[in-house]
Amino acid sequence: MTDFRPAVAVVLAAGQGTRMKSSTAKVLHGLCGRPMLGHVLTAIGAVGPEQTLVVVGHDREQVTAALAEQQHGFAAVPVVQEPQNGTGHAVRLALDAAGDQVEGAVVVVPGDAPLLTPHTLQRLLARHLEAVAAATLLTATMPDPTGYGRIVRDPDGHVTGIVEEKDADERVRQIDEVATSVYVFDAAKLRANLGRLTTDNAQGEEYLTDVIGLLVADGDVVASVTADDYRETLGVNDRVQLATARRLMRDRIVEHWMREGVTITDPQTTWMGVGVRLEPDVTLHQNTQLHGSTTIRRGAVVGPDCTLTDTIVGEGATVVRAHCDGAEIGAGATVGPYTYLRPGTRLGARTKAGAYVEMKAATVGDDSKVPHLSYVGDAVVGERSNIGAATVFVNYDGVEKHQTTVGDDVRVGSDTMLVAPVTVHDGAYTAAGSVITDDVPPGAIGVARERQRNIEGWVERRRAGTKSAEAARRARERDTMDAVGSVDDDQGESS
Ligand code: UD1
Ligand code: CA
Repeated sequence: MTDFRPAVAVVLAAGQGTRMKSSTAKVLHGLCGRPMLGHVLTAIGAVGPEQTLVVVGHDREQVTAALAEQQHGFAAVPVVQEPQNGTGHAVRLALDAAGDQVEGAVVVVPGDAPLLTPHTLQRLLARHLEAVAAATLLTATMPDPTGYGRIVRDPDGHVTGIVEEKDADERVRQIDEVATSVYVFDAAKLRANLGRLTTDNAQGEEYLTDVIGLLVADGDVVASVTADDYRETLGVNDRVQLATARRLMRDRIVEHWMREGVTITDPQTTWMGVGVRLEPDVTLHQNTQLHGSTTIRRGAVVGPDCTLTDTIVGEGATVVRAHCDGAEIGAGATVGPYTYLRPGTRLGARTKAGAYVEMKAATVGDDSKVPHLSYVGDAVVGERSNIGAATVFVNYDGVEKHQTTVGDDVRVGSDTMLVAPVTVHDGAYTAAGSVITDDVPPGAIGVARERQRNIEGWVERRRAGTKSAEAARRARERDTMDAVGSVDDDQGESS
């Protein structure tokens, strides 16, 4: 990294984004955990401009609101461009907003190039300083340059200008080196030449690209850097390109974590955002999606088929086929398959949340288990307790939510309804099938169900002619024969 800080960064984001066909501003469409504009601002933030200006036009209320959130920890100031008279016009307005006193380097980046890296911006700035250039542009060699401005060079390889595709002749269209709309300019040279732009071109706009030709004509130094990988400079104009960019960014993030010691068994079906943190020796299996600030600690295994948002997975835990949002899973815990952990779930060390278990705002102490088919909501469960299959924490009376407390070493019998507010104290049991509405004291068993009574012969009397009645009759006859047979045996023995 150069210690050098550019004076101003300008992000171009006033264009309409027609091809997205969206009511959301183009630069606010997201990929891998951030809007496009957020990725661009993050890359710019890494080179530390003294001020960052975002030129807004179409959908400017949305974009301005997003900037006000300052999600990226540094301020970017919107500058309104109305009407949108071209990229040169946009930069002119931004520079006016920045003030006449600005001198030094001005970085220009389009808001729709989310894959641009800080590394490339640093290379561009370093080249700009080294060449003592009036302008330094980032170029890329595209397998298909259609739609981009082309870089025209003299026989010695010096840039002489940029020609927009719509203004290009057949010979220029053959050129596969393109303009990326990423530049560093000297502020004074930029200001002087923006004032000279005309709209005498195919689109009737002030082209920022024309500044390059004007500088060259004046004998000013124009330098260039070619992107190591053209894909980093891809612009997003429609949702197909957005999907391409998302895939490339996913590859980049996934590769980063593999190099940091994470095993990813199927990178093609593993998706994660830029806010995710993984420790070495984590294993991610196929179809795993990690969103938000999800953090997975050393040795944990997640997947297949997991979606985790803002979730912490403790060291050595296992999470299989689970959907978790805002949950904290303790070290050595096991979750899944088919488990839904909602915000405020906190599982202690070596806990279990098994198949078809849903939890919300629930704290489960170390070594406790909720193995099967249960709902645990608004609850605190102590340590080493077991919640039997099909237990429901009945937390909602139709108006308000209430809290349930389960102590340490408790055995909640299968199919218990714990009607909150209620407490099952340390060492207590509940009988299977109980509807527990009163607190259970320490060491007691709470039994809250009808005693069973069997009405003999009911099926044969009341459901005569059914298969059940038939089966009952056969069983009764068998019993009678057995009884007779045993009498015979007794007689045989005694004779
Ligand atoms: C522009 C470049 C082209 C380059 C390509 C790279 C010009 C004239 N052309 O073309 O050489 O190959 O980017 O992707 O600069 N914008 C504004 N205000 C405007 C017009 C555009 O802020 O009045 C913004 C857009 O929102 C966008 C960026 O500038 O973020 C580029 O504009 P766009 O219309 O996409 O230009 P391209 O035709 O892609
Ligand atoms: Ca574009």
